[in-house]
Amino acid sequence: MEVKKPFVVGAGIMGAGVGQLCAQQGYDVTVVDISDQLVEKAKGKVTAGLSRRVESGKITQDEMDAVLSRLNWSTDLELAGDSDFVVEAIIENIESKKEVFQKLDSICPPETILATNTTALSVSDIALATQRPDKVVGMHFFNPAVIMKLVEIIRGNQTSDETIAATKKFAEDLGKVPITTAKEAPAGIVSRVLAGLLNEAATVYADGIASAGDIDEAMKLGAGLPMGPLALIDMIGLDIHLAKMETLYGKLKDERYKPPEIIRKMIAEGKLGKKSGEGFYKY
Ligand SMILES: NC(=O)c1ccc[n+]([C@@H]2O[C@H](COP(=O)([O-])OP(=O)(O)OC[C@H]3O[C@@H](n4cnc5c(N)ncnc54)[C@H](O)[C@@H]3O)[C@@H](O)[C@H]2O)c1
Repeated sequence: MEVKKPFVVGAGIMGAGVGQLCAQQGYDVTVVDISDQLVEKAKGKVTAGLSRRVESGKITQDEMDAVLSRLNWSTDLELAGDSDFVVEAIIENIESKKEVFQKLDSICPPETILATNTTALSVSDIALATQRPDKVVGMHFFNPAVIMKLVEIIRGNQTSDETIAATKKFAEDLGKVPITTAKEAPAGIVSRVLAGLLNEAATVYADGIASAGDIDEAMKLGAGLPMGPLALIDMIGLDIHLAKMETLYGKLKDERYKPPEIIRKMIAEGKLGKKSGEGFYKY
């Protein structure tokens, strides 16, 4: 199956990025969120990002205009009715995702594939909200979606081979490298392997062993990481990171994934990382 009309639900960090990626790769795409204000905010961010690329000579003004003309923004989920592939990128909450999938199931034609960008929730559970569990799949983009090469494709226990093949093809057409899990796996590969590292970095910070900057610099210079673990938590967003760790800990019942208290404390103080302008770092 060749995807012709993708649709994205959620215009946050990931949804806006996936929408921009689709438009850059030549697709006409619609991105929806729950309010005009959120949609305008996302549109403004994407436009500002593209403008910076024009200013630095990476793309031309005409290319920017063409991308923006293919990228439609709305608050109307019903517009998914003529799409053949939906990427859901709303908040990491199982009830919210199930509600959206139930609605998409009634809005979209039966052949439309419904993909979730969830970090750690169960694709199989989300699929149960629909009458088409064979066409529900995890399609996990990485942040920033426009740049990061990997897309993890996560099987639910009823996802068909045809759905996996179509999702892989779509990922490749978006210029990405897809890697598919052999079975349902909370948090896929990368987020699960990273989870222990990110937890430990937050704990080292909470224990007062070093400053955020020194922890990150040490991990870059000593472990060859391209970016520090605390800067990565800030980029992911502390709330999203916590939701992922809670899911992993709840499912795998392994202390390695227990979210450290410092993350909850920082969220309670409104420190959400780049989203709020403050996290382990100030922006
Ligand atoms: N942030 C990351 O680094 C990252 C990376 C990979 C995957 N993910 C996953 O992607 C998903 C989105 O994460 P994010 O960081 O973009 O979150 P975000 O908070 O930046 O954006 C979520 C958006 O979804 C919107 N939303 C909520 N309910 C909605 C609904 N019913 N219909 C339409 N829009 C709705 C919110 O208003 C918000 O704008 C999560 O499942 C997350 O786990 C995040």
